[in-house]
Amino acid sequence: MRVPPMGWLAWERYRCDIDCDHDPKNCISENLFMEMADRLSEDGWRELGYVYVNIDDCWSSMKRDDNGRLQADPKRFPGGIHKLARYMHDRGLKLGIYGDMGTHTCGGYPGTTLDKIELDAQTFADWEVDMFKFDGCYSNATEQEQGYPLMSKALNATGRPIAYSCSWPAYQGGLPPKVNYTQLGEICNLWRNYGDIQDSWDSVLNIINWFFDNQDVLVSAAGPGKWNDPDMLIAGDFGLSMEQSRSQMAIWAIMAAPLFMSNDLCTINSGARSILQNKIAIGINQDPMGIQGRRILKEKSGIDVYWRPLSKNASALVFFSRRNDMPYRYQTTLSKLNYTTGSYQIYDAFTEKTMTLKDSTSFVVSVNPTGVVMWYVSAPAKRNIRQFYRGGRLQGSLFDDDENAISPVFL
Ligand code: GLA
Repeated sequence: MRVPPMGWLAWERYRCDIDCDHDPKNCISENLFMEMADRLSEDGWRELGYVYVNIDDCWSSMKRDDNGRLQADPKRFPGGIHKLARYMHDRGLKLGIYGDMGTHTCGGYPGTTLDKIELDAQTFADWEVDMFKFDGCYSNATEQEQGYPLMSKALNATGRPIAYSCSWPAYQGGLPPKVNYTQLGEICNLWRNYGDIQDSWDSVLNIINWFFDNQDVLVSAAGPGKWNDPDMLIAGDFGLSMEQSRSQMAIWAIMAAPLFMSNDLCTINSGARSILQNKIAIGINQDPMGIQGRRILKEKSGIDVYWRPLSKNASALVFFSRRNDMPYRYQTTLSKLNYTTGSYQIYDAFTEKTMTLKDSTSFVVSVNPTGVVMWYVSAPAKRNIRQFYRGGRLQGSLFDDDENAISPVFL
């Protein structure tokens, strides 16, 4: 899990309504998960990296089998989970499943108490599952302290590579001293730090605020193999405008967040699809250096600036507006955003425009209410030193450009 995982997760959009009879006309396959797998593999998602199809709560029978093993609800999953895993693998996809450290899952299904950890890990490995989300309802802090590391060991002991998603920090307030991010990085591949996302802009904004207000703790916790998880992408659902969907995608990319969509890929509109399939945003999210970005400015005007260092000396910038009046013209320079002297190539993720900007050039970005402007910024071009020397003498300073005297570039 050297880069953040990408895929689809049932919970936000479907909750326990995972047997497809919510809208049979959209369900051609045997179940919702196969249906989403068909879409991921046929509609260009898989090639972009969206390969996980993850089951959440409410998948199991209310009772364990005679051997004490968890079993799938035979009505929702005829053929069981193993059949579903094979369906994913046949299409170059992966399957994720859900369990709970405690007596019951949050939805009231059988949980995994301490004595069941090894058995359940082995069951998931036998089913050829590729990711496991371990929720934390119905257990106390002491049990969690034992259970989460024990499950990590048990999963490793199966010999099957299974990505391990821990909800532990979310149940302990997400912050030190209750949460030990060094330990989490050693035992989990990703972890939920905070509350559940819902289908609204309020919810997305609340999550953004929490993650960046606590960035000094969180940024250093993340890296290749270990990711903070601010929860699912909800573009394509009902609660976000196109601007807000872009904002979530851009800021999740800055955060190096796992990208799990929770939406209906059969009926998703082309606007939401193109945001979720944006190659520059995905490229930024999946940067191999795996450094989580930061909020570098929170302006009184309601504009936030986010920055993430990327490999090849590149970086990403996001200008985000908290305003609700009209597009805001934000004026700045790259040097004000801590860029060193030089000339930078800019790729705008959503307009797909390219331009060159010197560090000292004043520019204006127009940021829509609750929207973003997102840039991939290439490494500064090396200057041709020779042009500054004539007859062995330096002709003025390298950087005495006069663009501050002229009107700003409008981008
Ligand atoms: C908790 C988790 C959610 C989801 C539900 C399922 O609330 O945080 O992501 O898994 O349980 O019941």
